[in-house]
Amino acid sequence: MARKKHDDGAAAPDTAEEKPVAPVEIKSERAWQAALRPRTFDEYIGQRELIDNLRISVRAARENGWPLDHFLFAGPPGLGKTTLAHVIATELGVNLHVTSGPAIDHKGMLASLLTSLGERDALFIDEIHRLTPIVEENLYPAMEDFKFDLFIGDGPHAKAVTMPLPRFTLLGATTRMGLLSAPLLDRFGFHWQLRYYEPADMTAIVLRSANLIGVPIDADGATEIARRSRGTPRIANRLLRRVRDFAAVKGDGSIRGPIAASALDRLAVDHAGLDALDRAYLSVICERFDGGPVGIEAIAASLSEERGTLEEVVEPFLLQVGFIARTPRGRVATAAGYSHMGLSAPARAPSGGGSQGRLF
Ligand code: ADE
Repeated sequence: MARKKHDDGAAAPDTAEEKPVAPVEIKSERAWQAALRPRTFDEYIGQRELIDNLRISVRAARENGWPLDHFLFAGPPGLGKTTLAHVIATELGVNLHVTSGPAIDHKGMLASLLTSLGERDALFIDEIHRLTPIVEENLYPAMEDFKFDLFIGDGPHAKAVTMPLPRFTLLGATTRMGLLSAPLLDRFGFHWQLRYYEPADMTAIVLRSANLIGVPIDADGATEIARRSRGTPRIANRLLRRVRDFAAVKGDGSIRGPIAASALDRLAVDHAGLDALDRAYLSVICERFDGGPVGIEAIAASLSEERGTLEEVVEPFLLQVGFIARTPRGRVATAAGYSHMGLSAPARAPSGGGSQGRLF
C-alpha cells in the first residue's frame, strides 16, 4: 500500500477538511463502516487519553526514526481497534498489514507475514488471543529482537537458521484480554482498554458521519441515534444508515428526533440501546433463573446462543450500564436491570446502575 510521504519520510496526514464520501451508494456494511472511519488523530473523536498518548509515541517514533513500540488494544467489538491501527499507520507514514489470530494457523504463515514487512511497517493482528501456542512462541523473538528462528530441512539434517526481520510494530487487538498469556502481554510496550464512548462523543460521531454521507440531521436526531448505540461507533454508523433509509421513505429525508426514534423503535433498539438479544438475555436471568446467580453456560443454552457472543458482546455493555452484575456464583440481574425490563425486582437484587449507569 503506497502512501504519500512528507520530506521527512513520514506520512502526510490528510488534514484538509474531510470530504463527503462518494455519492454512489455504498453496498456492503463493511465498506460503509470503512468509508466513515477517521483517518488521522485529528479526525478521531473520543478516547481522548489514548489518542493523546498515541500522538506522543508516534511523534517520538517519527522524529527519531524509531519503530513504534508494540501496542495492544483491548475492548468489546466496534470501539475502533482496527480503525486505530489504520490511523497509527497513516500518522507514522508506514504500510499496515492486516491479519487475525485464527488466520495465522501455522508457523510458516507467520514467517511469510513477517518477512514481507518493510522497515518500520505495522502489522495488525486482530483477535490476537486466538493465536496457537506454537505461533505465539515464534512471535516472541520477532517482537523482542526482530528475528525469526527457522529449521531448514527435515530429520537429522535439519539446520537451525535465524532470519533477521525488519524493525516493525505489532498492533494487537483483542476482545478478551483475560485470555492473553502473560508472556505475550509482557512483550507489548503498551496496552490499553478501550472504553465505551461518552454520549457527547457519540453524538459528534453521528453528526460527522451524517455530514460525510450528506444526509441532513439535527441535534435531536443525532442525540437519539447516539443514545441508542451503546457507546459504540460501529453501531451508531449502522443505525444511521437504517434511520437514513427510514427518513427517506417515511419522511422528507432529513433526520430529526421523532423520525429517528420511530425508526429505532421499529428496529427493536430500545431507549438504552439494548437490542433483542440483550433483552432476551436479561429476561432469561430475571424470569427463568429468578434473577440468578446463574452460570454463563446455562444462559447460553437457554438462548441457543454462543457463550463467546454473550461474553464479548452482550455482557460488557449490560455490566457497563449496571443491568447485571457478576458474582463468584454467576450472573445476577440488578434492580436497574429488572426495572429496565418493566419487572419488579426481588429484595435481594443488587441495586446496579452505580457509576456505570451514568453513561447514558
Ligand atoms: N467513526 C467511527 N469511529 C469514529 C471515531 N472514533 N471518530 C470519528 N468518526 C468515527
